[in-house]
Amino acid sequence: MVHLSRRTVLLAGVAWAVTEPVPNNVHAQDGSRPSLPIPAELRAGAGGTIRLDARLGSMQFVGDRKTATYGINGFYLGPAVRVRRGEKVVAQVSNNVPETITMHWHGLIIPGAADGGPHQVIPPGKQWQTELAVDQQAATLWFHPHSYPATAQEVIRGLAGLLIIDDEESDRLPLPSRWGVDDIPLIIQDRRFTPDGQFFDRMNYIAVTNGYVGDTALVNGARYPQARTARGWIRLRILNGSNARSYALAASDGRSLYVIGSDGGLLANPVELKRLLIHVGERFEVLVDGRDGRAFDIVTLPVTQDIMRLPPFDGPLSLVTIRPEGADGTGQLPSSLAVLPALPGQLPPMSQELVMNMFRDQQGMMPLKTAGLMEMVKSGKTDPAVVARVVSLIVTDPVLSPTDQLSANGVNGKSFSIERMDFAAARNRDLRWRISEGNDLMLHPVHIHGCQFRIISRDGKPPEAERAGWKDVAPISAGGATEILLRFPHPANRDAPYMAHCHILEHEDSGMMTQFTV
Ligand code: C2O
Ligand code: CU
Ligand code: CU
Repeated sequence: MVHLSRRTVLLAGVAWAVTEPVPNNVHAQDGSRPSLPIPAELRAGAGGTIRLDARLGSMQFVGDRKTATYGINGFYLGPAVRVRRGEKVVAQVSNNVPETITMHWHGLIIPGAADGGPHQVIPPGKQWQTELAVDQQAATLWFHPHSYPATAQEVIRGLAGLLIIDDEESDRLPLPSRWGVDDIPLIIQDRRFTPDGQFFDRMNYIAVTNGYVGDTALVNGARYPQARTARGWIRLRILNGSNARSYALAASDGRSLYVIGSDGGLLANPVELKRLLIHVGERFEVLVDGRDGRAFDIVTLPVTQDIMRLPPFDGPLSLVTIRPEGADGTGQLPSSLAVLPALPGQLPPMSQELVMNMFRDQQGMMPLKTAGLMEMVKSGKTDPAVVARVVSLIVTDPVLSPTDQLSANGVNGKSFSIERMDFAAARNRDLRWRISEGNDLMLHPVHIHGCQFRIISRDGKPPEAERAGWKDVAPISAGGATEILLRFPHPANRDAPYMAHCHILEHEDSGMMTQFTV
C-alpha cells in the first residue's frame, strides 16, 4: 500500500515548500481511514418529482462523540440531484428541521419565484413545491438554504447538495462519467467542533468580518477519506461548500489538474494547472490522470486570507486520497470541450455597480492585529501563542445582537433589507455590471442569482483561463473590481426578487446582500 504522509512536500511547479513541522491534528495513518462517501444520485421519478427532505441527523466526526446535524434525505449533506437539459421537474422540499429554511438552486437559471431565495420560506413541518424547467448546458450546480439571516448556520449543520445537469453536448464527449467510479464528487468544507463534539457556530465581530474559521477539513462529510476509483482518467466535481474558506488545491505528487468546467458548464478547452484556487460557492470540474494506478492526495495549500492560515491550514493539508487502483476506466481528456461564445467586441454600457461594504471591519480586524495574526502570517512561521490568542477570539468574542449583526456589512452603502427592492435589471438583454469593494481589502466571492455570467475583466486584466467560462461566482479582492457580462432570461418580481451577495455566508447573513427585480 502506498503510504502518503499527511504533510507532503510538493514537487517543483507548486510555489510552496514546507518550512516548519506543524502538528498533525487530523488523522493518524492508522489504516482506519474512512471511505469517501459518494452522495446517491437522485433523478425525478415517474411523476417527474424530486423529493428533498431536510431532517435532523447525527454524525460521528470527532472521536466517539455524536454531532447533531441536518441532512437532506440523509444525515449530512444531500443527494446529487440529476436533471437533463430540456427536462421539467417538480421539486418538493419538506422541512423537518426545527427552523425556517428555504432551498435555493445555486446556478440554475430559473424565474425568481422558483429560485428558493429568502422570500420562499418553508416553515418547520411545511413543504414547498416548485417547478424547475432546466434549460442550460451541462454543469455541476448545487442547492442550499438561503434563509435570511440564517444561511450560515443552516449550511454549517449540513444542508447542501449537488445539482448536476446533463445534456447532449456533454454526452458526446468521452469524459469519465461513471458516478463514484471515475466521476467523483468532492464537496469541501471546513468545520470546528465544540468540546462536546457539536458544530461550533458563533456570530461575533470576528465571524461577520472574517467568516467561519474551521480547523477540520471535511470532504463529503468525512475527514481525510480515501476514494478507490477506476484506473484511468478521473473526473473530480469539486464544490467549495465552505462558508468562508478558499482552497488552493494541488495533487500531492505534483501531477496536473486539468480543469474542464467552471460554475456554469464546460470550458472551451481543458486548462492544465498545478494549483487551483477555489472560492466559496465555486465549482470546478477537474480531470486527473490516474492511468499509472498510483495513489495521490488532493491537498490544499495556504491561501491569502490571513485568518485562514491558522493550523492545520498553514501548510499543505491533505483533504482526500485518490486510489486509482480499480478496473481500467474508459474516460478520456478531450482537447476541446464546449463551444463558448466569444465576448462581444462592443460591450454594453455599464448598467449596475455593486460595491461590497464592510462597516465593522475595524471591530473584527483590530483584535486579530493585536493578537499578532497579521505579523505571524507575514513571517510565514506559525506561532502557537498567537494561534491560541486568535482561536480564543474566534470562540469567545461576544455574540452580536441581531441589530449589530444585520448592520455589519452592506452593498452600495446599505445593509440588506428584505422589504426594500434595491434595483431593477432589464430582461433578455446583455448587461455589464461592475463589482468592487469599499474600503476593506478582503476577498469577496460575489454570487448573482438568475443567470450564468462571463467575467470580462478582473482588476483590468482578463480572467484566469479557468474562470473565462460560465460563472455564477466572481471573486474580488484587495480593493479591486471585476466586470461581468450577464443576461436574465426570466422574470423576478417584487415578491420573489433575485439576490446578489457575497458568498461568504457570514457576510451574506450580516448585510452584504442586495435584491433586485427583473
Ligand atoms: Cu449559493 Cu445566493 O447562493
Ligand atoms: Cu445562487
Ligand atoms: Cu464578503
